[in-house]
Formats: sequence, C-alpha cells, structure tokens
Amino acid sequence: MRQIIAGNWKMYGQLAGIAAYAEAIRNAPDHVDMLICPPFTLLDRFAAALKGSPVALGAQNCHAIPQGAHTGDISAPMLAETGATYVILGHSERRADHGETNADVRAKAEAVLAAGLTAIICVGETEAQRDAGEAEHVVRTQITHSLPENFAGVVAYEPVWAIGTGRTPTEADVTAMHAAIRAALVAQLGTNGSTINILYGGSVKPGNAASLLALPEVGGALVGGASLNPADLLAIAAAAPRG
Ligand code: PGA
Repeated sequence: MRQIIAGNWKMYGQLAGIAAYAEAIRNAPDHVDMLICPPFTLLDRFAAALKGSPVALGAQNCHAIPQGAHTGDISAPMLAETGATYVILGHSERRADHGETNADVRAKAEAVLAAGLTAIICVGETEAQRDAGEAEHVVRTQITHSLPENFAGVVAYEPVWAIGTGRTPTEADVTAMHAAIRAALVAQLGTNGSTINILYGGSVKPGNAASLLALPEVGGALVGGASLNPADLLAIAAAAPRG
C-alpha cells in the first residue's frame, strides 16, 4: 500500500509564503501520495502554485450539505471547485472547539464522498481515556459511528495528547491501536476495510518518522506543526517505506 503523507496547516499560513512552499515541495518523493491541507483561503492559490505537480490539496473541514443558509460555512462541492481532492474531518480540535460529534463527522463524510472527494476521518483518545484503559474502546466507537456505510477513504489515528506536544505513543501502543483500527474497519466494511490507509498523527517529525511509518498497519502520516516547514515534510515523506 502506498503511504499517504498529509500536511495539516491548521490556522497557519498566509499568501506570501505559498509560492516558495509550493516550489519546495512540488518534487515530492514519488513513492508516497503527498497532500497539503491549508486554510480555505489559500486553496485556490495553492492549486495554481502546485499545477503540474503530483502534490494534492485538501481542506480541513466542510459542511454536511451542498448549500444553504449557513453563514460562515463551506460545502464539499465548493471545496471541489478549488482543486482540493481531500477533506480532513473530525479532527480532535474540531471535535473539541466546535463540539463535532461522530454523527456530524459521518454526515460530513457522506457529503465529501458525494462531491467526489476523499475524506480523512480522524479518531483518537484523550490522555484521560488512555489512562483509564479506554483508548481502544473510544477509538473503536469513533470508527463505528463516524464512518458512513461503504466508506472508502482514509482514517487517521491521532491520540489527542500527542498533538502538538512533542510526545508520541510507544511503538507497541501505535501497533496495537492500528491493529485494532484495522480489525474494526474490516468488521464494518468487509474486505474494503483492508484497503484503507490508516495514518498516524501526533508530533510526527523528521526524527521519528522512519520508525513510526515502518510499523505494521501504519499507512502514512498526518503532520501538523512539522508540515509548515517544507524541508521537514519532505524528510518525513522520504522516510516512508515503499508500499
Ligand atoms: P502535530 O499535529 O503534528 O503538530 O502534532 C498533528 C495534527 O493535529 O494533525
């Protein structure tokens, strides 16, 4: 399975930096699928700057319906028009900041699929849930309720306590969780569940990428902070095994 290396810019980045960033990453290593998920306002310009390169674009959220009276929201068909082909959904920051539930994520994922885009659905436990021994249960529940029927897309496991903290789970913990996610996907989606890339996210850096990306059932990385530096994102991509 080819690995996917996705950069999640979150609410960082302005127009001034786009041209140089796009120039730096346009020759991403060809053994991975790379994508950048900048803020909505930069998608259009990024698409132009990346024209002709294999690097894809993604958004960080969308609304569950194509159009309507929802001030401040953006729909999946609107994102498709910018040239984006992926949408991150259910990131823990959206679940925490905006109260997004598994049902919300599922509805958005249906909209993303209907618009012909690929959803990257994020799951992950908090530190308190891990300490209570509930991590796998929490993540399995998120998978069950956030994924639409017949889901075809990407899943990202991001332990909330590892995001932006410089901390990562042990290799044994990542291996166990990715195995649990794979089992849940196959139970829910049948053989299609075995074709879904399961990304790891949470403090992925050039220095830990090779060991994390080599773990069984890790199908790539969702990279936050380090993705703002193109050299770091390229180093992470270079560290991915050939699928
Ligand atoms: P981080 O963020 O790499 O800065 O920890 C990952 C994410 O939130 O997707």
